[in-house]
Amino acid sequence: MKALVAYYSESGNTEKLAKAIYGGINVPKKEIMPISEAISKDYDVIFVGFPVQASSVPAKVENFIKSVPEGKKLAFFVTHGSLRGGQLAISALHYAFSLALKVTVLGTFGCRGQVKPGLIDALLKNPEHKAWAIEAQSAVGHPDKADLDDGKEFANLMIAKARNL
Ligand SMILES: Cc1cc2nc3c(=O)[nH]c(=O)nc-3n(C[C@H](O)[C@H](O)[C@H](O)COP(=O)(O)O)c2cc1C
Repeated sequence: MKALVAYYSESGNTEKLAKAIYGGINVPKKEIMPISEAISKDYDVIFVGFPVQASSVPAKVENFIKSVPEGKKLAFFVTHGSLRGGQLAISALHYAFSLALKVTVLGTFGCRGQVKPGLIDALLKNPEHKAWAIEAQSAVGHPDKADLDDGKEFANLMIAKARNL
């Protein structure tokens, strides 16, 4: 089994989580790289990571998910400013699922990722972003050690699941 962690990250939060997930993958052949460099056909299990943006999936990530050949196993991981487990972040994962109809989605993981305070102030004034930006004010310090440990455990469990499919 060959595993890939392909991630998109603008301010480093998703990259941190990607590295923790990579650490939790227990297979001899594994690689980690930005999504712009990733070629999905070479791997059996692909962890696809991205920041939730405007309650959805960034365009580059959407194109990558659509390009994954039939029969592969995917696992999604996200960071987001809004509350963990909240509807504002889950809507992006629902959309990611809708793009992955010809592959098996093993599972999903999400944790919070901080947004620069200066940026939040601007986003709070924007009707399109206000709802999540209110919640994001308390995301300072995330992803933290507990988030990264959870991500690592998620990776381990997804690999175990892939082996049994
Ligand atoms: C332009 C922009 C839009 C965002 N939209 C959302 C959103 O809709 N919901 C949310 O929970 N967080 C949103 N965020 C917060 C990011 O998802 C969060 O900070 C994430 O951890 C950033 O990851 P990165 O450092 O890997 O880029 C947004 C951030 C930016 C800058």
